[in-house]
Amino acid sequence: MLNGKTAIVTGGSRGIGAAIAKKLASLGAQVAVIYAGNTAAAEQVCAACTQEYGVEAKAYQCNVADFAAVKETVAQIRADFGTVHLLVNNAGITRDGLLAMMKEEDYDAVLDTNLKGAFNMIRHCTGLFIRNREGCIINITSVVGLAGNAGQCNYAASKAGLIGLTKSVAKELAPKGIRCNAVAPGFIATDMTGDQTDNPLLKSIPLGAMGKAEDVAAAVAYLAAANYVTGEVLRVDGGLAM
Ligand code: NAI
Repeated sequence: MLNGKTAIVTGGSRGIGAAIAKKLASLGAQVAVIYAGNTAAAEQVCAACTQEYGVEAKAYQCNVADFAAVKETVAQIRADFGTVHLLVNNAGITRDGLLAMMKEEDYDAVLDTNLKGAFNMIRHCTGLFIRNREGCIINITSVVGLAGNAGQCNYAASKAGLIGLTKSVAKELAPKGIRCNAVAPGFIATDMTGDQTDNPLLKSIPLGAMGKAEDVAAAVAYLAAANYVTGEVLRVDGGLAM
């Protein structure tokens, strides 16, 4: 399905991003994995893509919040793979805290990584997409961006902002053959969420359990192939934000 295509997955060294990278590789895409710090983990994901699915995969250390660094990394990916067809903005962080006590740097760090990071990536890939008259952008937002969440005003603002970014990019770039969609996961078991066995929130999930990284990856694969879908926000949340 994605044979001959090149995908960038940010935050692909673990969790949801690693599952997305492997899913896209399983569909035949070459994968560029962008990660923040853990080189060994990122290289392990790339090795799994190559060994299990026979595709080319390479890891790139880059802080997505850094406009100039993203420009350089996208240029390197272009030099290595020729071009880019699919961009998945998955890199994200949390710095939770109550609004009345939230530090300025915690607000800024979350907005810079989660929202500006996606802008930086889209900004530097769009030239390639326009030249190809083809491109697909998928932003990983959150149900918290739809509904808000006490103790996560910075994170919710970043994820709601991503939805506005997604819809604006979808409208602006549709005439160029470029689609932009978002996936809004609910409560997914990863390092970010940690051990949640006793969390009372689990009872409010209609499907009765946390999701898996692979559930989010399946939604990304759907949107990668959904040629008539743009500007959509697809919830993958077991019904949580219904
Ligand atoms: P995680 O913490 O396991 O992985 C985050 C990834 O982002 C890592 O690979 C890390 O290296 C990368 N990253 C962080 N800051 C970066 C930066 N400045 N530059 C480049 N890479 C950076 O997180 P998880 O759980 O896999 O989440 C992935 C995405 O899904 C995030 O955007 C998160 O907000 C979103 N999400 C997760 C949910 C969950 O329940 N786990 C629910 C809803 C959304």
